[in-house]
Amino acid sequence: MRELALNILDITENSISAGATLIEIGVSADFEKDVLRICIVDNGCGMDEEMLARVTDPFTTTRTTRKVGMGLPLFKFSAESAGGEFSIRSEKGKGTEVCASYQISHVDRMPLGDFGGVALQLVTMNPQADFRITAESGDRRGALDTREVREILGEGVPLSSPEVRMFLKEYIQENLVDIFGGRL
Ligand SMILES: Nc1ncnc2c1ncn2[C@@H]1O[C@H](COP(=O)(O)OP(=O)(O)O)[C@@H](O)[C@H]1O
Ligand SMILES: [Mg+2]
Repeated sequence: MRELALNILDITENSISAGATLIEIGVSADFEKDVLRICIVDNGCGMDEEMLARVTDPFTTTRTTRKVGMGLPLFKFSAESAGGEFSIRSEKGKGTEVCASYQISHVDRMPLGDFGGVALQLVTMNPQADFRITAESGDRRGALDTREVREILGEGVPLSSPEVRMFLKEYIQENLVDIFGGRL
């Protein structure tokens, strides 16, 4: 994986598989402290302690089609090889929080990549889940909350409809350019 956005997609897909109805994705950058932080929080089925302890070990997975689950180990590796830290907390029946931090200037920090494209894909392709996606840098902040968007649109207008999708695409891209300005 060469883009952090793809790691985010992978971790969020775990939340979707876990039956989450609300998924919060936060990306915040502090250029003065040289720290990038990414968190994905869900209200899905969670994991028990035994599973949680094994889950960052690449030989653990609940999939039967493929023996090695690599999403969490790769996300952990991406942080720890770029001067950052990884953490995961989970409670069975409540949800899961996965966070990774990075030294922004570290030579081995992967670029953020197409986070806007990933965000758009997630919100338009998952009508069963709501997303709160936030981006932050210094005093610049942006948020996309699908609960608010659905409320405005009313029932019967899916987020995947062409006009809504186009609006969301522009909204997300404008925010990301304004907040991160291509620096990640
Ligand atoms: N957010 C989550 N909620 C509940 N279980 C999770 C979550 N994330 C990961 N898991 C569990 O940890 C396992 C390993 O995840 P991952 O490393 O992404 O590999 P994979 O998704 O390929 O199995 C998953 O199969 C799932 O059982
Ligand atoms: Mg996975």
